[in-house]
Amino acid sequence: MTYQVALSFEDGVTSFVTVNGYETVADAAYKSRINIPFDCRDGACGTCKAFCESGTYDGGDYIDEALTEDEAEKGFCLPCQMTPQSDLVLQISGTSEMAKVTAKTYKAAVQDLRWLSDNTAALSLRIEDRGTLQYLPGQYMNLAVPGTDAVRSYSFSSGPALEELAFLIRTAPDGAMTGYLKDGAAVGDELELTGPMGSFFLRDVKRPVLMLAGGTGIAPLLSMLETIATTPQGHPLHPIHLVYGVTFDKDLVELDKLEHYAGVIDQFTFDYCVADKDSTAEKKGYVTQHITGTMLNDGDVDVYLCGPPAMVDAVRGYWAEQGITPENFYYERFAVGSTSSVKETVEEHEGQRTYAEVSGDNH
Ligand code: FES
Repeated sequence: MTYQVALSFEDGVTSFVTVNGYETVADAAYKSRINIPFDCRDGACGTCKAFCESGTYDGGDYIDEALTEDEAEKGFCLPCQMTPQSDLVLQISGTSEMAKVTAKTYKAAVQDLRWLSDNTAALSLRIEDRGTLQYLPGQYMNLAVPGTDAVRSYSFSSGPALEELAFLIRTAPDGAMTGYLKDGAAVGDELELTGPMGSFFLRDVKRPVLMLAGGTGIAPLLSMLETIATTPQGHPLHPIHLVYGVTFDKDLVELDKLEHYAGVIDQFTFDYCVADKDSTAEKKGYVTQHITGTMLNDGDVDVYLCGPPAMVDAVRGYWAEQGITPENFYYERFAVGSTSSVKETVEEHEGQRTYAEVSGDNH
């Protein structure tokens, strides 16, 4: 039996390695020429200590100095000793450069381009050997804009198991990608994409989940929902609720997909709201006005938020107002302008920032 183990590095690069059920993660990584940190390889020093974000494994033999009981309970693990019992996602201490791996670049072709509104496009790409591109639901790729030297970061809106590679793209005045999509894009065009990147990905659903999306921040959450809907763990024992906020009615996209997921995922529900006071939507205002105490579950909740900086600040302010600290708060904030695209991914555990990474470009 083999398993896919995703090794997520501190700089947001993720590598995948195939591990046999009888071998350790460190041995399989070594065979794949991925230098994850290790020293004793005997469960004695703790140098290889990693954090398991999802999946099950046999922790192997080690001494308390390498990994305490408390750490093991929290999800820390020793790749030199552990053998997988399912696919795993591990946060590795160290950068991809240290591990001598780089994000891969793929040649893709435009398969479809649909305008969902006058400012949001759904772009589908295909690559020749789809099996060579693995990613976690919620991650993003850097797309090179054809005919320019600009690179833009976009989250997958499709689930990793699908053949299609889909992205939602919000236009920006004078933006490089906007110019390409509006004026020159055609089915069959070739472009390069590099990744996968980012630590904003779905973890095991161990408690109620609250998803918050602002505008095209809905994309990575769609990828997560697609995964929840189509994997064996797709019948979570805990409720998942999404609040999707936009500025104007025309910014509301992919509601049909959300309806679909509400029909196929146990306990998944969603609301949407529109900030514009002239909106015809039933719920108006901002996402924080539509979060209820039930969704917060006294803080025993994992929150995934993807939206612009103002939304992240508003939600943080809301936690403070309510005196709530979510058990886990994963967020990705993105700023889109005509000359840059920046993503910041942050992970907080019980209010403490445990991980942060910024990526983007200014071409
Ligand atoms: Fe020493 Fe893993 S390398 S405990």
